[in-house]
Order: sequence, then C-alpha cells, then structure tokens
Amino acid sequence: MPLVNSKELFKKAYDGGYAIGAFNCNNMEIVQAITEAAKECNSPVILQVSAGARKYAKPVYLKKMVEAAVEDTGLPIVLHLDHGADFEICKDCIDNGFTSVMIDASSKSFEENIALTKKVCEYAHAHKPYVTVEAELGTLAGIEADVKVEHGAESYTRPEDVEEFVKRTGCDSLAIAIGTSHGAYKFKPSQCTRDPKTGVLCPPPLRFDILEEVSKRLPGFPIVLHGSSSVNQEYVKIINDNGGALVDAVGVPEEQLAKASKLAVCKINIDSDLRLAMTAGIRQDMKEHPEHFDPRQYVGLGRSYVKELVKHKITDVLGSKDKA
Ligand code: G3H
Ligand code: 13P
Ligand code: ZN
Repeated sequence: MPLVNSKELFKKAYDGGYAIGAFNCNNMEIVQAITEAAKECNSPVILQVSAGARKYAKPVYLKKMVEAAVEDTGLPIVLHLDHGADFEICKDCIDNGFTSVMIDASSKSFEENIALTKKVCEYAHAHKPYVTVEAELGTLAGIEADVKVEHGAESYTRPEDVEEFVKRTGCDSLAIAIGTSHGAYKFKPSQCTRDPKTGVLCPPPLRFDILEEVSKRLPGFPIVLHGSSSVNQEYVKIINDNGGALVDAVGVPEEQLAKASKLAVCKINIDSDLRLAMTAGIRQDMKEHPEHFDPRQYVGLGRSYVKELVKHKITDVLGSKDKA
C-alpha cells in the first residue's frame, strides 16, 4: 500500500470512536520503533516531521525512511508535515510526496490565519493525489511553528470561531487548544496538586467543554490534539535513576486522551513521550554497561522502549489497534 492521506483514516476513526497516533520522527530508530509497533498492533499510523526534524535529518532521508517503513509494514501510513510555518514549507512537502501538511498560522490574526490556511488548502487540494491539510485555531504554550508561547500567554480555541474558519479555509482537520501544551513540562507546579506519597504532580483537567462545543458546531469533522504526551513517570524515573535530572516533568493523563479519542478527536500528537522513552533506554544501557561503546547497544535499547511505548499508546489510549 502506498502512503495515504488522512481523509479516509479520519472518517473511519470518527465513526469508530478512536484516534490515530501522530508520532514525530527524527531518525531511523524512531521510524522503525513506531512502525514496527503499529504493525504488531495492526494499526494505521501518522508519521510526522517538523521543521526541526527536516533540519536535523534532511528531508530526503526522512522521506526515504518513511517509504522504507511503508514497504516493510504494508500499513496505511500518512506522511505529515507538523507545524508548517508558512506556504513555502507546505508547498515543498506537497511537491515532494507528503500526503498531509499542517499550516500553523495560529499565532496570526483570525483573518491572516484564514488567508494563509486557504492558500495552502487550495494548493494541497489541487495536487494529484489530494493532500489533506490540518489547520489550528487557538494557541498552546510551548514552541509552535517556531513561535514560543510562554505559559500563561496561551489561548483556548473559541468555539464560536470554528464554523466560519473551516468554511472559509476548506481545511480537512482542525487542531484546537483545550489545555494541552508542547514538551515535558506541560503545567507549572502551581497549576497542579502534588501526590503527598509519590511527590508526582497531578495536572488540571483538559477543557472538554470546549471540545464538546466545537464538535457540536462541526458535526463529523476531525479534531486534532497537539501536546498530547503523558510524560509517563516510569520513563522519567528510569532517566532520573540513571543520571538524568527531570524535575516536575508532567503531561496529560492518558485517561483524558482515551476519552478524547472516543469523541471528535481523530489525531493525537505525541513527541515528548518518544523522546523520554528513547532517553530512558540510552541512559539505562549506558549506566548498566559502562563498557558499551557500540551505538547499536544503547540506541537499540532506546528503540525497544519507544516501540513498547507506541504499542501501549495504540492499545490503551488511542484505541486504533486492529483498525488498519
Ligand atoms: O510540536 C513540536 C514537536 O514536538 C516537534 O518538536 O520542533 O523540536 O522537532 P521539534
Ligand atoms: P508533545 O510535546 O506533548 O509530545 O506534543 C507533540 C506535538 O504536538 C507535535 O506537534
Ligand atoms: Zn504540536
């Protein structure tokens, strides 16, 4: 099966009450871990590439690795641009075989966001085969499309804007801001309560009221959640037990993502959790085996941790197991 766009996958996900994982790829081991996990779970999957990933690995390597994964697994795989900052990067990806792009103009005014998103949609939809476009309304804390938004300066999506935005732009899916943020420190300790026994932070709940209002206004329309890593504490502990120093790292509880997956959310973006699993494996191998100096040993353990994590997400959070 060749690379696919997200249209049909999202329709099935919406109707079936599950979400598709969109995992960020930066190197071969991450591509392999994600796609081998998806294969073992018989799940569709979205491999997404940021501007930073393109800079790190070079677009041609990422593209060829994703093509190799398609050949290796035979799964429906979407190759998606994550947080495209302008028309040019979206065009470059469309012209070079991506099946889906995100134009992230969420830091611009409503009218500028509409104009840029519409321009990308017109180009992507005229392409043969059709390329799907994700847009964003509202802003998350963290770094998005090269724009850094401080905690406190983020803004929730306004449900009263979504119908006009989707109608005027023609976008195929919409990322909304309901309280998630990018990175491994999603909430300030002052926003959380602390478990007195373990010391682990418990974050405030996501704004499901906004998600429900948006989906009422856009029936059947696929919604996307960014910043959806859960910062699983087992990996944070392995990292910290093996020389790391991640203090008060906290993510979105998996039960809330599982709930969102059953609603209108069809795509859930996960990057930080992969980074944590990879780092946990590498640190553990290096600490336990100071004599190791073959990258296949420590990166290999990192890859196996990422694979286990992705299988867990597909099975226990997203609900996309056996949906390929
Ligand atoms: O949304 C952000 C993703 O985690 C990508 O991060 O720009 O460091 O590759 P990056
Ligand atoms: P996390 O930092 O929560 O993994 O979010 C990733 C993301 O939204 C990529 O676009
Ligand atoms: Zn994102």
